[in-house]
Amino acid sequence: MRPILFLTQPIPAPAIARLEEVFELNQNTSDTILSKAELIAGIGNADALLCLLTDSIDREVIDAAPRLRCISNYAVGYNNIDVEHATQKGIVVCNTPGVLTETTADLTWALLMSCARRIVESDRFLRQGRFTGWKPLLLLGNDIHGKTLGIIGMGRIGRAVARRASGFDMRILYYDPSVDKDSLPAEYEAVELDNLLKNSDFISIHVPLLPATHHLIGAREFALMKSNAVLINTARGPIVDESALIQALREGRIAAAGLDVYEQEPQVPQELIELENAVLLPHIGSASVETRTRMGLLAAENAIAVIQGRTPPARVN
Ligand code: GLV
Ligand code: GLV
Repeated sequence: MRPILFLTQPIPAPAIARLEEVFELNQNTSDTILSKAELIAGIGNADALLCLLTDSIDREVIDAAPRLRCISNYAVGYNNIDVEHATQKGIVVCNTPGVLTETTADLTWALLMSCARRIVESDRFLRQGRFTGWKPLLLLGNDIHGKTLGIIGMGRIGRAVARRASGFDMRILYYDPSVDKDSLPAEYEAVELDNLLKNSDFISIHVPLLPATHHLIGAREFALMKSNAVLINTARGPIVDESALIQALREGRIAAAGLDVYEQEPQVPQELIELENAVLLPHIGSASVETRTRMGLLAAENAIAVIQGRTPPARVN
């Protein structure tokens, strides 16, 4: 009998085809997020699970799967999984690092540039029929080139974001207590977080969500930022205290924010939606055709390797 893999939502076709070479698939064929009861029902006879960052794979779900040997997350972040409990039960947890690094860095820059040059606001302005001619003072933004970019978390994505800044002649500050400084270009400046917050024109977050990074950026941190600062978050929503962010944007404490992630996804506070100086995306950091396919193939290889007794390409526990 072939092993059973429970797939919680459709992923790109090449990945499904690869999974079907090895597994009997039990798949949710609609793109609705499964409830906990549906997860528990689906996982019951599964040998492997291929899940999304929107699936909360907690103790109860894991305990409902007596045969489970692998949890393959279709994401690099795995804060949605109780890894400790999975480890105790001998279940291998895998993720999709590397393949989405450049695509997420691209989107980080799309947000940064949109905020600096008021791109989304300008588009709204034109569509509202308000473009009555070129004006010296119309929709002035801020320069990007020559400014200081502060990167919180110099992992793969942080580095890819920093690399893109060289074409804009930017100064790079970074905060990452665990990084090996010698692995980074000498001109990047390692600083304490407060120093980064005080001196950066653009601040971009690239740390994972952990107890230690929850609300890493809150009221105290916004108070340290420059009034022209732009905050970009393409990592995880709860790293930023969203109420403190809303207040900082409202009061003009900082200039703008570009967000791809939120504290209570998919809920986005109405106060944020009403702010002209926020650019808000629906968690599309890795959403390119190429990258979503690569993520699917990697997630498939992870699950297949575990089931076949081999070392998976990206194991987290
Ligand atoms: C997306 O947010 C991911 O962690 O892959
Ligand atoms: C994720 O790929 C990271 O290390 O930033």
